[in-house]
Amino acid sequence: MTHSNPSLRVLLSAEQIQARIRELGAQIDRDYPDGQVYLVAILKGACFFLADLARAIQRQTRIDFIGISSYGKGKTTSGEVKLTKDLDSSIEGADVLVVEDIVDTGITLNYLMHVLRQRRPRSLRIAALLDKPSRRVRPVDVAYVGFQIPDQFVVGFGLDYAENYRNLSDVCVLEETAAAPKP
Ligand code: PRP
Repeated sequence: MTHSNPSLRVLLSAEQIQARIRELGAQIDRDYPDGQVYLVAILKGACFFLADLARAIQRQTRIDFIGISSYGKGKTTSGEVKLTKDLDSSIEGADVLVVEDIVDTGITLNYLMHVLRQRRPRSLRIAALLDKPSRRVRPVDVAYVGFQIPDQFVVGFGLDYAENYRNLSDVCVLEETAAAPKP
């Protein structure tokens, strides 16, 4: 995908995103039993969502990070992914909530849930800010979804294009605008 002259169109404003994260935090507080929620964010994009979601949850939380990368550049339906950074501690017996910025093909989370389930957490759920259900090739059960979005290339709020745009407070569609016609 090349963007010779990209422009950004706001899909979800910072206000919409923050309001929805507050709702998700309240829902998580209601759903979980007493005790600690062990938040596991997937590097790198989910860091922004994690920071806001953790502050929207009133009960005790613990945070940790896990790194995952696909083999090669383009993700394929072969689902070949690998861990690049593991958690710092055991999740056995913990109420684990995996925090992700976007579920696209589902390959990343399908793999990660398989890995984490083997570590015997007490519960294991997913919170994803964005969900593109039309792109799914692997099943993923997402307990908490911020927004379902159409199949458009989005950046911002952690999502990047060639590592740029992660720090935008809005989620934007990256569009290629036609170059201005020569006079
Ligand atoms: C993105 C996103 C998810 C994954 C979703 O990560 O943050 O982890 O892709 O795609 P999938 O459902 O098709 O597996 P990316 O590999 O771009 O890494 P990043 O978070 O470091 O940008």
